[in-house]
Amino acid sequence: PLIPVLLAGGSGSRLWPLSRQLNPKQFLPLTSDRTMLQETALRLSGMAADPILICNEEHRILAAEQLRGIGAKAQSIVLEPVGRNTAPAIAVAALRALQVHEDPLLIVLAADHLIQNVGAFRQAVEKALPLAQDGRLVTFGIVPDRAETGYGYIQQDAAIGEVGFEVACFVEKPDRSTAEDYIASGDHLWNSGMFLFRASDYLKELEHHAPEIVAACRQALDGAVADLDFLRLDRAAFEACPAVSIDYAVMEKTTRAAVVPLDAGWSDIGSWSALFDVREKDADGNAFRGDVIAIASSRSFVEADHRLVALVGTTDLVVIETKDAVLVAHKDKVQDVRHIVDAIKADG
Ligand code: GDD
Ligand code: MG
Repeated sequence: PLIPVLLAGGSGSRLWPLSRQLNPKQFLPLTSDRTMLQETALRLSGMAADPILICNEEHRILAAEQLRGIGAKAQSIVLEPVGRNTAPAIAVAALRALQVHEDPLLIVLAADHLIQNVGAFRQAVEKALPLAQDGRLVTFGIVPDRAETGYGYIQQDAAIGEVGFEVACFVEKPDRSTAEDYIASGDHLWNSGMFLFRASDYLKELEHHAPEIVAACRQALDGAVADLDFLRLDRAAFEACPAVSIDYAVMEKTTRAAVVPLDAGWSDIGSWSALFDVREKDADGNAFRGDVIAIASSRSFVEADHRLVALVGTTDLVVIETKDAVLVAHKDKVQDVRHIVDAIKADG
């Protein structure tokens, strides 16, 4: 079977104050009436088996209820006592999948991406299946439109089959000038953060490049406790696991990578400006939700949850109004919103 692995363990701190520790962005309805997790779970329905969802134990009820809300069922909801980033999360999902199936294909999906053209995405996955069956670690590559430093970059090489390419080089989160060189080169794609491979092939590569992660994940799963629909990983074993992303642990190092280009209206809803970019705008280029009055204002973004928000003469402003906190920011500075969350945490 083809098993979706839904990664839902991120904190979404750049989307404060809507995204909170108890209710991070993947559990919010940011791009439609459904939450980001629900959209992700529906993306491959009909062409894949029930997903394995992996998230922090703190969010188990949210995750289970949101799946139920769309009539979906996970084959496992694996609970992490602490976040150890994506290499371990995917390893645990792969080990879990191997307990139940004979070496299934896994399609790893981040629970906080928007894909506007789901048909094109499904087609790309379908076409990539033979590469994964052939032992490749497939990633989906996006044609970049700016020198973003928060993404991984893939240099394409010779074609493999009809849809894939060899990966000449994978570089996770390059610095600004390197990213600019990559954009100028014209032969680099962004790593979408979605992957397709056999469970055993991922584990083999991880074992090769980071054996201590596989060992810790095995232990955490061996000691796991089943609780209702949930599988709680052993805390001590998982805490002892190094925290590394799949990009650094495997994708930068493996020689078995392949990339399949994806043109499906993909975006990582990482910040308020990313969300603004995909929202519908009025004639002045504003995107408003809730009760908003604007006079002589343009290119501004407002979410009014509980009160009327009024703008006069603003440009490129972000206002996020919630019951107990209001964010006012310049649209070019929204990457720094995470520092507000740090400051709140430091305050206790
Ligand atoms: N279960 C679990 N546990 N999920 C996690 C954890 C964890 O410890 N850490 C992150 N995730 C989830 C996030 O919720 C998100 O859905 C996904 O894994 C990716 O994590 P991010 O932290 O958002 O990664 P990133 O955006 O910095 O970088 C990745 O995605 C980019 C594209 O969006 C990389 O793969 C980049 O190469 C890529 O360009
Ligand atoms: Mg991300």
